[in-house]
Amino acid sequence: MQPVKPTRPHAAVLALAALAAIGSVPAARALEITLPPETARYTPSELPGYRLVQQNCMTCHSAQYVLTQPPSSPRGYWDTTVKKMKKPFGAPFPDEDIPAMVDYLAKTYGAERTAYAGKAAAQANTPAPAAAPATGSHDPQALLTANGCTACHAVDKKVVGPAFKDVAAKYANQPGAAALVAQNIRAGGAGKWGQVPMPAYATMTTEDLQSLAGWILGR
Ligand code: HEC
Ligand code: HEC
Repeated sequence: MQPVKPTRPHAAVLALAALAAIGSVPAARALEITLPPETARYTPSELPGYRLVQQNCMTCHSAQYVLTQPPSSPRGYWDTTVKKMKKPFGAPFPDEDIPAMVDYLAKTYGAERTAYAGKAAAQANTPAPAAAPATGSHDPQALLTANGCTACHAVDKKVVGPAFKDVAAKYANQPGAAALVAQNIRAGGAGKWGQVPMPAYATMTTEDLQSLAGWILGR
């Protein structure tokens, strides 16, 4: 393993020794690595790799490193980078997650960005009523799909985030629950259900947030 230069200011310190418990990093090789603050989030996407990077790539550092890679980085570069997180850095994700994560990274942050964005836009132009709700519509189910919520949430079971049924149960009979949940969707963050963070939806309108919160609390 190469020694890593701890040069970043305002950084949280991660002791890789903690990861020795997971298995792949021998404690004898423990070293301190300085990482950027946990602020940057991965860009929401319909691609299956989005959910996997949320699960696999947020434990040691935020999306900051990914955001700062050259946009011309080809697929092979992402493949090498993801494999490097496993060995030598010791990330514990399974090999079968790698292709989907590489696909998401290349199409969201790398050389295939423009081609993929163009294709997605073309698909959105083909007749698909649910993807293009009429102006002023705050239909909750269309909002869930359009905002990528369904990559992490289902009604009946935990995915990356809690089941909407469990959210409804948690807030049942609590006064002001809808406003609180709307605020929590806007702010994102972790700690209410576990350590995995939810991305913030800071630009979503109040009407859309209220529509989503009301629908979720009705499950
Ligand atoms: C076990 C902890 C760990 C996990 C999990 C992890 N990384 Fe890293 N990552 C690191 C370390 C350590 C560095 C190097 C830090 C430095 O150079 O300051 C790094 C650096 C990076 C870099 C910067 C480029 C480079 O080659 O150094 C990118 C991009 C990156 N990680 C992406 C990812 C992605 C994508 C995932 C999920 C597949 C991921 N990381 C998961 C520990 C991890
Ligand atoms: C990348 C995965 C991911 C995406 C995308 C995502 N969520 Fe979440 N969501 C989570 C996680 C993880 C939590 C638990 C956060 C915590 O523990 O505080 C959560 C929590 C929630 C909660 C519970 C908040 C509370 O007050 O307890 C609601 C409601 C919710 N999400 C709705 C949404 C909606 C609506 C969207 C789309 C606009 C969305 N989520 C998108 C992962 C995600």
